Amino acid sequence: MGSTLLSSCGSARRSEPLKGAVNISDPRVERGRFVYMANCNHCHPGGEAGLGPALNDKPLPEFLLKTQIRTGLGAMPSFSEAEISDGDVRAVIGYLKQIRAADAKPM
Ligand code: HEC
Repeated sequence: MGSTLLSSCGSARRSEPLKGAVNISDPRVERGRFVYMANCNHCHPGGEAGLGPALNDKPLPEFLLKTQIRTGLGAMPSFSEAEISDGDVRAVIGYLKQIRAADAKPM
């Protein structure tokens, strides 16, 4: 389930990046948005810098995102699998790709 999410997210918009709005028509991206709002948004508001740095302005590789979520760094807490499942980590990463592509704040 999760691996198909990453491949479909990664390739769907390659030639034509989204502008202006976050595409949440994919239910797994919607799930990622939900997980993001619950766990990440208070420090990375809308993907922009808050207590943590902006996430929507640089192409962070997936393994790095996953490591960051699982192990934390500095002031960022770690999230165990009990807190965010592997599937939800993939959903969040898919969502982050969308906000980077759209360069827009989530609603
Ligand atoms: C308590 C606040 C807090 C929460 C909650 C939080 N972060 Fe962070 N995040 C930070 C801080 C602070 C840093 C910078 C850490 C450092 O470099 O010392 C950071 C860094 C990052 C980075 C690396 C950015 C870069 O430029 O290298 C990523 C990716 C990231 N966070 C993703 C997430 C995701 C995804 C979530 C939700 C699952 C999340 N964060 C939740 C505070 C937070």
